[in-house]
Amino acid sequence: MESASEPAARVFFALVPPQPLRQALASLGREIAQRAHGRAVAAENLHVTVAFVGAWPLSGLSQWIDAGARCAARPMHVTLDALGGFRRAGVAWLGASVPPLPLLELGRCLNAELAGAGIADARPFHPHLTLARKCRGPLPRESVGPYEWDVDALALMQSHADVAGVRYVVLRRWRLT
Ligand code: 2AM
Repeated sequence: MESASEPAARVFFALVPPQPLRQALASLGREIAQRAHGRAVAAENLHVTVAFVGAWPLSGLSQWIDAGARCAARPMHVTLDALGGFRRAGVAWLGASVPPLPLLELGRCLNAELAGAGIADARPFHPHLTLARKCRGPLPRESVGPYEWDVDALALMQSHADVAGVRYVVLRRWRLT
């Protein structure tokens, strides 16, 4: 559905931790970034991606708003307790040693929507919250925390990149009830 002439947005579905938790995660991220010789993700940008749509024409965003409404279902308690990294991408992240079932179901539902739109998700769903990027040093691999919260919302986010860096804007939010 992409076209060269139409303005597109880079969009994805995510879980956004509450503000006080994001501050604690940002502080962990600064420590990890230092160890891994990378750049910490700013507190306001911390999130767990559930499904990545990628560039999509702005005029067709209602498709993802409908998809979010169809998939947003059960609330969940997420416990992030394991540090890890993706070497090739140079990211250090915080993941869940036991991802909750409703999160895996949410990922499955949204990835089925992606597949229906012809987007084959190249990455298997591995729930994580990226703490640091551009890591050139050793990536962490240990237990930490736990950092946990009751997830009561799913968000459709848009990623904006400019000279100041990247920032994410919530386009739509669904309560998980
Ligand atoms: P990352 O944190 O592991 O880099 C916005 O770019 C969000 O979408 C980030 O959380 C990023 O994951 C994720 N993302 C970017 N490209 C992706 C892809 N091809 N597949 C899945 N998630 C992706």
